[in-house]
Amino acid sequence: MTKYYKILRVLDYLRMNFARELLEWYNIYKRDLPWRRTKDPYKIWLSEIILQQTRVDQGNAYYHAFIEKYPDVFALANADQEEVLKLWQGLGYYSRARNLHFASQEIVKLYAGNFPNDHKQVLKLKGIGEYTAAAICSIAYNQPYPVIDGNVFRVLSRVFGISAPIDTTTGKKEFKQLAEELMHQKECGAYNQALMDFGAIQCTPKKPNCSTCPFNESCYAYNNDQISVLPIKLKKIKQRERHFHYLLLEHNDHIYLNKRREKDIWQGLYELPLIETEKATATKQILNNQSIFKGNLKKNLSLCEVSKLYTHQLTHQKIFAQFYWIKIADEIEPLSPYLKVNKKDIYKFAVPKLVERYLYNWLENS
Ligand code: ADE
Repeated sequence: MTKYYKILRVLDYLRMNFARELLEWYNIYKRDLPWRRTKDPYKIWLSEIILQQTRVDQGNAYYHAFIEKYPDVFALANADQEEVLKLWQGLGYYSRARNLHFASQEIVKLYAGNFPNDHKQVLKLKGIGEYTAAAICSIAYNQPYPVIDGNVFRVLSRVFGISAPIDTTTGKKEFKQLAEELMHQKECGAYNQALMDFGAIQCTPKKPNCSTCPFNESCYAYNNDQISVLPIKLKKIKQRERHFHYLLLEHNDHIYLNKRREKDIWQGLYELPLIETEKATATKQILNNQSIFKGNLKKNLSLCEVSKLYTHQLTHQKIFAQFYWIKIADEIEPLSPYLKVNKKDIYKFAVPKLVERYLYNWLENS
């Protein structure tokens, strides 16, 4: 038998037994997670959206906070968007929180508050894509939709030796076909979660635990020294660099906040008055900027601190930010369109992590 033929035989065997063996592994090693003790689609949805933003350990705290405040779809639908954003603070990608809120209202309007159990209807809800719909339908309703996330790409590409790039249409199609073929038809939710746990615990991106892996005898990557090669990704994400200069304008017990309204990052969140420049810019030039100070006399303002340079990485953007703490001595014209907020009330406003890093520290020390 040629080597090539042998590999095909092994992979055939593996395809037939993969789901069963994976479930055996899961029954021993599965993580005890709060959303695994429920079949409530609302809670499963919430957990899945949170887990798209953070790891399981940090996600736990957010999950409990959301469930406590919004125990069902009606509670979330009736909530104020600002409150939802505040609870989401720190997770980033705030459109997820806005979509969660919007979709809860859709569920109330279209389905009288009953979470739909039809895959097509689930997919139509705002913010729910292929991954989330498959997760909800399989975990809550045991329907055979395979989830395909980063963990799944990694496990399947390594075990079955799939070298199609995961970020191309043809690559995605190939993984989807294999995932559908491998799907356990009865224990759909457990199977999907097993695959994700397996990727998170056993078949990790770096230093996977191959010596204790139940598939090590047949795993393509392990037996062909391809672990560090698979999965293959083609495109390097283009990064946009942005330069933010935040002004912390303090007048007595108050500072000024700006609500971000444009279609840009952090829509709906609060920040400090911002000057954005095309490239790194000297402090002097920032302080000469007239757009914020308008007609206000410069002598009323005293610069107390220029912060270190903060960097903040988002998916497609890298932000370089500096904070300028400026005291305003006398009352000046209202700095519209900013909101004048008493220091003790600042914690009520949802702010991006970048602003939180400087502002909360400043509040504690001022
Ligand atoms: N990552 C995202 N959702 C998950 C789930 N339900 N189980 C394990 N890992 C996950």
